[in-house]
Amino acid sequence: STGITDSSKIYSRLFMHKQTPFIQVVLIRGNEFKEVYYRVPEYVLKTRDELTKTIEIQSTLSFFKKSILEKNVIWSLAVLVFGLLIFLSFYAARKIADQISRPVNALVTGMEKVKDGDLSYSVKINTKDEFRFLSDSFNSMIKDLKLSREKLKEAERVAAWQQVARAISHEIKNSLTPVMLSIKRIKNYFDDKNMPENVKESFYAVEDELRSLSGISAEFSDFARLPKPDKNDLDINEIVSSVVMFMQPVADKIELSGSYDAQLPRIYADRDQIKRVLINLIKNSIEACRPGDKIVVKTDVSDKAPFSVKLTIKDTGTGMDQETVKRVFEPDFTTKKKGTGLGLVIVRKIISDHEGKIEVRSKTGEGTVFTVYL
Ligand SMILES: Nc1ncnc2c1ncn2[C@@H]1O[C@H](COP(=O)(O)OP(=O)(O)O)[C@@H](O)[C@H]1O
Ligand SMILES: [Mg+2]
Repeated sequence: STGITDSSKIYSRLFMHKQTPFIQVVLIRGNEFKEVYYRVPEYVLKTRDELTKTIEIQSTLSFFKKSILEKNVIWSLAVLVFGLLIFLSFYAARKIADQISRPVNALVTGMEKVKDGDLSYSVKINTKDEFRFLSDSFNSMIKDLKLSREKLKEAERVAAWQQVARAISHEIKNSLTPVMLSIKRIKNYFDDKNMPENVKESFYAVEDELRSLSGISAEFSDFARLPKPDKNDLDINEIVSSVVMFMQPVADKIELSGSYDAQLPRIYADRDQIKRVLINLIKNSIEACRPGDKIVVKTDVSDKAPFSVKLTIKDTGTGMDQETVKRVFEPDFTTKKKGTGLGLVIVRKIISDHEGKIEVRSKTGEGTVFTVYL
């Protein structure tokens, strides 16, 4: 053997001479090798090729599958992140819009309410920013507006009543003077001795009515002529004690006493008007008391800002039910047969002209406390 494999020789031996398998020995660089040849049937080769093909396709497919899968994951992730971003930006935008639009809406609602005349409305904003500042300013502005409007209304009402009071007191005085003169003349005409007893009684009754009419007229004209306060530096304790002394004889069997705080600061006020406040309040207390009841007029350093002086007029009289308490400051309100209902209107007007405050507490059967802050 030459040691060189001759493929045509191998082919003829395998296919022509049908020697299968056959073995041939070859020498390669002095080494002996044995070569074995088989004739493989056609279908085996075909199958082998098919298998190779299938395996190739399989591996290509699996490569594609893998890469598609990886890409899909990336895409899914991308879509997810993108979606999240959109959601977050919507959420943030909404939140920011809310933070601006909610307070603005609240303020607009407030303004509309105020425009429609509702001054009791207040804007509620729960943030701590400029909007809070804005709403707080808005609320305090509305509060001021409400207060000044109430004051104006009250002043208008008082002014209207003052006009009525002026007219009435004028009328009463005009007719009262000639009536009194006539009575005097008639009395002079009879002399006391030959005046019958029943006529005498009638004279007393008429004179009594005339006196009370003249009192009412005086109260009306007092109320009608309520000048602006003429303020001076005053010692309130001195004024209260002098009024208490002056009213003691009027109180008669009712125990009227004063209690004075030595630390009381001096204040700027109209002496005559403060006296009128005290006289009116004490008179009301006397009128609500029975013999043996007590009235205490007390001065204290104020416990309420911005006032410096506190006056209390406390009685153990009849007291009032809550419906009455609500109405005591109304110009035409009285529960008395010959009352004018003006006493407390005068009191309140004077106190408001002094930038003060008056409060009332009362209980039927137990008594009443009026508290004045100046
Ligand atoms: N100290 C008091 N105790 C009980 N009722 C009072 C007292 N002060 C005021 N009032 C009630 O308030 C009403 C109004 O008082 P006022 O304005 O002084 O008018 P008047 O004394 O002419 O009735 C009184 O009629 C009375 O019903
Ligand atoms: Mg009165």
